Amino acid sequence: MKKVVSMMLLLTGLSAAAIAQSPIELTIQLDKPKGKVSPHMWGVFFEDINLGADGGIYAELVKNRSFEFDQPWMGWKKLVDGNEGTYLLLNDNQRKGNKRYLRLNNGSDLRLGLQNAGFRGMGVKADGTYEFSLQYRNSSANMQIHVEVLDEQDNLIGATELALDSTRVWKEGAAKFRVKATSAKAKLNVWFTGTGTLDVDMLSLFPMDTWKGRSKGLRKDMVQMLADMKPGFIRFPGGCIVEGRDLANRFQWKKTVGPISERELIINRWNTEFKHRLTPDYFQTFGLGFYEYFLLAEDIGAAPVPILNCGMACQFNTGELVPLDQLDEYVQDAIDLIEFANGSTATKWGKLRADMGHPEPFQLKMIGVGNENWGPQYIERLAVFKKALNEKHPEIAIIASSGTDPEGDRFDFLDDKLRAMSINIIDEHYYRPPAWFLSSASRYDHYDRKGPKIFAGEYASHTTRPNGPGKSTWEAALSEAAFMTGLERNADLVEMASYAPLFGHVDGWQWSPDLIWVDNLQVYGTPSYQVQKLYSTNKGSDIIPIKRDGEAVAGKDSLYASAVYDQQAGQLIVKIVNYNSKPVQVSLDIPTKKKFAKVGQKIILAGKDLNASNSIDQPLNIQPRQEPIAYKGSKLTERLTPYSFTLIKLPTR
Ligand code: AHR
Repeated sequence: MKKVVSMMLLLTGLSAAAIAQSPIELTIQLDKPKGKVSPHMWGVFFEDINLGADGGIYAELVKNRSFEFDQPWMGWKKLVDGNEGTYLLLNDNQRKGNKRYLRLNNGSDLRLGLQNAGFRGMGVKADGTYEFSLQYRNSSANMQIHVEVLDEQDNLIGATELALDSTRVWKEGAAKFRVKATSAKAKLNVWFTGTGTLDVDMLSLFPMDTWKGRSKGLRKDMVQMLADMKPGFIRFPGGCIVEGRDLANRFQWKKTVGPISERELIINRWNTEFKHRLTPDYFQTFGLGFYEYFLLAEDIGAAPVPILNCGMACQFNTGELVPLDQLDEYVQDAIDLIEFANGSTATKWGKLRADMGHPEPFQLKMIGVGNENWGPQYIERLAVFKKALNEKHPEIAIIASSGTDPEGDRFDFLDDKLRAMSINIIDEHYYRPPAWFLSSASRYDHYDRKGPKIFAGEYASHTTRPNGPGKSTWEAALSEAAFMTGLERNADLVEMASYAPLFGHVDGWQWSPDLIWVDNLQVYGTPSYQVQKLYSTNKGSDIIPIKRDGEAVAGKDSLYASAVYDQQAGQLIVKIVNYNSKPVQVSLDIPTKKKFAKVGQKIILAGKDLNASNSIDQPLNIQPRQEPIAYKGSKLTERLTPYSFTLIKLPTR
């Protein structure tokens, strides 16, 4: 037969290159599913990095609203000079969490003003309604607050008045008003007039148009980007932020729940992490705290995946350790978190959840102990957590770290130990160049199926590390798409996967690449976002083997493929990456008892070149394009675009 083909080629004058264009045959074993895809499979990793929370998804527009930053005037400007004592910062130990407040005192005639610059300015929208609020005390009856929003050129684009009650005790005041023009870099003026002195705190400005219209809530456009992904889980609050530069700076969930004005802020560790990207005004105010994270998870239909400090500070920084005999507080935090999320409203922490507005449990099913921790010190501490958690909450799966790298001595050491400990889920991280992602597409093909499940907890293809900024190019995204065929093929083992980090603010980032970029008004998804979204919105329920000559399609001729069947929708979904600079023909042979509908759908994601990207100005430069495909029977031939990611969706009848 081969001879005949060669003869024909000779006779017709076809070149050797043409042989490569004859369709590559892929067989899809639809009737031999290999296992189930976890409903949590594709999720999101949230960390307050790159102004992800404060200055980002948390819609507060005022920076340093409670004067608690290390430099209490950061973000603020006095609009009227005062005498000594005109602006006094008092530190009241009786106040929970937020100790400082501002006393304004200008003799008998109070006529003072403050300006807040926002986080790299404030994004406000024409015709949007905004709510100014504050806490105040010691006011007299004739006191007024005049609020102004100015655009970049100092034009007045919104204003309101607020008459204060006469009060000796702390009270809340608020006023809503419309802004008439859009500005990405607006600022807020707050003028105080009246007689006597006035104490103020928590000066705040929020848009009313937040996610789900929640008062003082989250930026709607940013949450929408997450909701659109239909993520299976949301990991929070990080990342290295869990560990802290030192233990004092670690993330402590208990300090992030309860009344917002009582949540004690801390410096954000990304404030000083990278010398070339210092962000001195980066703090965690915890307006977005653990309650809000759980709520967000619920809103977007994602399983909550909290990661807790294991008694170790970041080993790239101080590496401080809690002595083993003093771990109780840390372990108790984990146990209490389960009560906060799932406990009855009769319990201490369950009651707090109910008091905050959510009597129903949050359905917590897994907890991460430690982020990127390593060494025997980690294993010792993890063992203490595991014992306590397994005893009290055997229903909660434990996620444990395999360190910072997906290979090497540290990884091998941890991997062995975690398997020996029968940890439920191992968290693997890989920030690597595109070539690594391509060559690792079969990483999980031969992993032990009897041991722990895998959580690809943080990954991103980095094109220009370490000298950064790592650009979110089509090259990076396509290499991730190729690698993810391997995750999907092994979804019986790989339970969850999330790109990291999630958000980057164009004026305030520390780490790049990121999945989604924002400025004060806009948001766009990178090519990697488009890839993640295509996977998560097409995750299916059953893993379907797709083979070339009996082997997984994992890089030969730069082709990568995986397939799933979606029981609910009744459709086969095939994902193929063509990492060639030329089109490639594939023929799909699907021997099955199932009957296919006549028309399917093809979704193609491709960039003009590997350097192509999306941006604020061209947010959809790379976006999926859909086409119907008609076919007969269970065979079809497709031409794959150069450097493309293609989804073929075939409904069954
Ligand atoms: O995603 C950014 C950082 O990368 C995370 O905080 C950390 O876990 C990892 O090193």
